[in-house]
Amino acid sequence: MDNTSFLLKDAWKQLEKSVVHYQGQPVGTVAALHPGTTPLNYDQIFTRDFFVSALVFLFNKDYRIVRNFLSVTADLHGRKRSIDCFTSGLGLMPASFKVICEGGRERLSADFGEQAIGRVTPVDSSLWWLLLLRMYINASGDRSFAGRAPVRQAVMAILDLYLVARFELIPTLLVPDGAFMIDRRMGMYGHPLDIEVLFFAALRAAHDILSLDPADDAAQYCNTVAHRAGHLAAHLHRNYWLDQERLAHICSYRQDEFGEEVANRYNIYPESVPAWAAPWLGSQGGYFVGNIGPGRMDFRFLSLGNLLSILVSLTDQQQQTNLVSLLQRQHGTIIANMPLKACYPALEGAEWQAITGADRKNTPWSYHNGGSWPFLTWLLAAVSIKADKKLLTIDQLIGMAGTLQADNWPEYYDGIDGDTAGKEARLFQIWTIAGFLAAYYLLKNPKNIELLAFDENPFSATCDED
Ligand code: GLC
Repeated sequence: MDNTSFLLKDAWKQLEKSVVHYQGQPVGTVAALHPGTTPLNYDQIFTRDFFVSALVFLFNKDYRIVRNFLSVTADLHGRKRSIDCFTSGLGLMPASFKVICEGGRERLSADFGEQAIGRVTPVDSSLWWLLLLRMYINASGDRSFAGRAPVRQAVMAILDLYLVARFELIPTLLVPDGAFMIDRRMGMYGHPLDIEVLFFAALRAAHDILSLDPADDAAQYCNTVAHRAGHLAAHLHRNYWLDQERLAHICSYRQDEFGEEVANRYNIYPESVPAWAAPWLGSQGGYFVGNIGPGRMDFRFLSLGNLLSILVSLTDQQQQTNLVSLLQRQHGTIIANMPLKACYPALEGAEWQAITGADRKNTPWSYHNGGSWPFLTWLLAAVSIKADKKLLTIDQLIGMAGTLQADNWPEYYDGIDGDTAGKEARLFQIWTIAGFLAAYYLLKNPKNIELLAFDENPFSATCDED
């Protein structure tokens, strides 16, 4: 057996082992098959983790498990729960769930954050769910599934929850710490790019799904979604996009400006621009910064949001070129030896102490704090195809998978170069394995990208200002 076949075989063996059944049907995959130690919640089916497994199943025309996952979670989201000050889960999809067997009967138990370490709410789950539903319909052609009452109700409940008026007059979502893949305190509260781009992607998915539905209320939701997505895209372009030209503007900002037409809308102090930003960007580079708020621009590079922005055509052509050029120029810092850093650069010293709360799992260049996450390889492969640039070749992917397999498929890697298996990494981490397989099937058959990518943003024209 050649090396590639050996790696694929081992990866599939683990992926199949991770499948969870409920009432005789496959409904998802556990987060990790780590041997020995207490599983914490790694024995559960995580919504965000399953998205990566689902890519692999859909690319291989195995629709059943994805359909079952979407069905059981559509039922779970509406289940009445009683936790303090929040009794209805409508529109909120669980971070994770598991099957409990009692007295010969099976039931599902979901965690919406009330059990999670740090009690973190999964703002991302419902957004991944919408993206997955669109992908399932694209792959299987099963359009009638979206019309089934529980699925239709779930789509609308998610939109009701995410489009509701809040305390702010901007199109982004206000997000607490720990609300997505970075689910520990990392200074992500506010308006983190990963969620805002995912929100844009989910709105696009919802628009496609609702467009299949002839009912009047679906048309109304479609209009609202298009309006919000247009404003959101314009807001991200105007406020988050950073290149040398924008950086020069920021460095010349005046403070405490009042009124609608001011340059320094968020009252950013030039002194807050980190020294690494200009040389790191180079003359051609550009990216969306990590977060914006009053007096705050977080210059950290968040991989998920930036790469996803290309896949879902949030970037315009020029931005895509600049972002890809940055990825190529900064290969060593972002992609490194094990793709991909969740966030760059790491928080260190007093900043790490204050922002993470001295989190020993998130020490500099480890875990979420500058550690490398191989599950993101699917996204790197997808961006390579969408942008038609060789950011990842099959040979590089196979080389990388050889390391992963030899290290027992760890959850993450440590170090600025991403070359040591993470100090607290779970082994046989399923989205690591699925990330490799999904990247492989994308690179092998680039047409697979059609299931998940979006064409040029049709909503930007609806927005003249935000
Ligand atoms: C960790 C990660 C989170 C992931 C979960 C299960 O909590 O931070 O993103 O979903 O493990 O793999």
